Amino acid sequence: MKRYFVLAVALTAAAACTGPSSVSSPDGHIKVDFALSDGVPYYSVSVDGKPFIEQSRLGIAAAESDLSGTFSSAGSSLSSHDEVWTQPWGENKSIRDRHNELRVNLKNGSGVRLAMVFRVFDDGLGFRYEYEVPGADTVRVNDELTEFNFASDARSWSIPGNFDTYELTYRDLPLSAVEDANTPVTFRTEDGIYASVHEAALVDYPEMTLRKTSGTRFTSALAPLPDGVKAVVGGTFKTPWRTVQISDSAVGLINSALILNLNDPCVLEDTDWIRPMKYVGVWWGMHLGINSWTADARHGATTSEAFRYIDFAAANNIEGVLFEGWNDGWDTWGARQDFDFTSPAKDFDIRKVTQYAASKGVSYILHHETGGNVPNYERQLDTALAWAAEMGIHALKTGYAGGMPGGNLHHSQYGVRHYQKVIDEAAKYKIMVDAHEPIKPTGLRRTYPNFMTREGARGMEWNAWSDGNAPEHLEILPYTRLLAGPMDYTPGTFDILFENIKGNPNLRQWNMKPATECRVHTTLAKQLADWVIIYSPLQMASDLIENYEGHPAFRFFRDFDADCDWSEALQGEIGEYVAVVRRAGDRFFYGATTDSSPRTLVQPLSFLEDGKDYTAVIYADGEDADWLTNPQSYEITERTVTSADTLEVRMAAGGGQAITFIPCHEQSEKAPGDD
Ligand code: NOJ
Ligand code: CA
Repeated sequence: MKRYFVLAVALTAAAACTGPSSVSSPDGHIKVDFALSDGVPYYSVSVDGKPFIEQSRLGIAAAESDLSGTFSSAGSSLSSHDEVWTQPWGENKSIRDRHNELRVNLKNGSGVRLAMVFRVFDDGLGFRYEYEVPGADTVRVNDELTEFNFASDARSWSIPGNFDTYELTYRDLPLSAVEDANTPVTFRTEDGIYASVHEAALVDYPEMTLRKTSGTRFTSALAPLPDGVKAVVGGTFKTPWRTVQISDSAVGLINSALILNLNDPCVLEDTDWIRPMKYVGVWWGMHLGINSWTADARHGATTSEAFRYIDFAAANNIEGVLFEGWNDGWDTWGARQDFDFTSPAKDFDIRKVTQYAASKGVSYILHHETGGNVPNYERQLDTALAWAAEMGIHALKTGYAGGMPGGNLHHSQYGVRHYQKVIDEAAKYKIMVDAHEPIKPTGLRRTYPNFMTREGARGMEWNAWSDGNAPEHLEILPYTRLLAGPMDYTPGTFDILFENIKGNPNLRQWNMKPATECRVHTTLAKQLADWVIIYSPLQMASDLIENYEGHPAFRFFRDFDADCDWSEALQGEIGEYVAVVRRAGDRFFYGATTDSSPRTLVQPLSFLEDGKDYTAVIYADGEDADWLTNPQSYEITERTVTSADTLEVRMAAGGGQAITFIPCHEQSEKAPGDD
């Protein structure tokens, strides 16, 4: 990673037993205070001089030693840091890390040393524990005692606390009514402060959730191992950062880079092989129930179907193709979960397919569904990745749809270690990863940029076989789960009401509901906008390709570039609407969406380069569009604009708008017959 400049200044030297006990953000708005009370560490946070988090306990309960009390000060110090760093891909390729740090050194009667490290940025704070436990090779963490004692009630958005899945429906509740929650937990106070609690750099430790103890006081609840212990760590260990993003606007949370700033720089020497892609794949047919993952008469991933998808990708400026159901073992899904990662299905010639894809300049994205059977996967992992690399494969989607054996939970230290092992092994073979049923993102993509994207929330698939995702789900996600990192939501359904599968003789119900009783809860224009809003460096157009062929609105995806350089969330409110713009090279892509209320946004185009003319290709909801009654009505218009212009962005109920801004001298990716 190239650094432009680094500034690290020790402001105050640690005094023998005393020293500074508070630290403020560079702009002075946020202040953290540390205190020891009867040997127990506490912290509190104020925003603009008002209490925001009141005195909250710190510490860890462990089997081996007292890690939570009888502490005394061993000195403290302040430092400042200001640096601009770059990354091979991301919403923004260049990021400023400007913060002040307070390091409080503590020791206790058992000889335990604890450094509490607080970093305060203009957009929030992070803190973590650095422990040294003398004479212990292993420490068993029974509980983390971190509290978040919020000073006032707030309106909050979160999913329930769960250690095995994030594919849950969001709740809009007073903070005081939340019993437990997975992070990010986002809220807005009556004073208009927007905040989100999460964690950064989750390595070799369980995930943290929040559990209410009383009122608006929460404690950290860690995912347990099967014996109830939360983590087994070494005698010297650091926890992940506990984070609180803070802003005076909802979109300020989206524009915050705090989570990435609290992660370590990239450890991969060579990142040239890592590149964002758009992709299509044999996928939606299985979720709708017209194809199967198993190699029977309804098999989706056949050699001939693969060729058809590769041809479509090559003709439509799409860099990658995924084929689920290419391998043996799908007949054991939900039972033994005995997937075989080097045996192609009998009607899928993987060598022929990879060679054909390469000849067309299309990347083959491999799929490893494990069913949650981690031991089976880890046994085959190295061989399977070596085999894939030998065929020229550089991208992999993994899946953990099923319980992990032995009572292990997806979000426990066991799961966290496994997901990391796959990233490390994949990096050895220059393979990028997209994990489904993953651990939540905590910014590790900065350190391991081959961890491209992941699922970790209710994605498009739920619309095919359940009550689906309500319209406002897509206006909550950007302010909650997506604050943590990219998501492979797989937007892009054009056949919103699944009309084109009606009467298909292959149609079967395989999950909660038959597809004929399901639908997508948006308009078509909102599907386009979500390609921009739901950031994913591997971005899928997830519908059947026959629903895209010859469709004028698919031009948006052809033009779209998943490898953006700069992004900004422009306006929005949690659960109501959101507008985001991204620049890739000299093109800009804009997406805005609304919940079930129609809305018109006034959108200044000041993000465009001054003095340049752009062709704006506007994909809007039709005059008569409505997600419930007329979701497929859309219109495409073109006009010339400059940075001095303002657009009225009109959106139908459950609708949206997507706009491509192309410098006037350039051509967009029109398909034959598009005009
Ligand atoms: C769940 C994943 O989220 C989905 O994308 C995949 O198709 C199925 N599991 C099967 O692997
Ligand atoms: Ca899933």
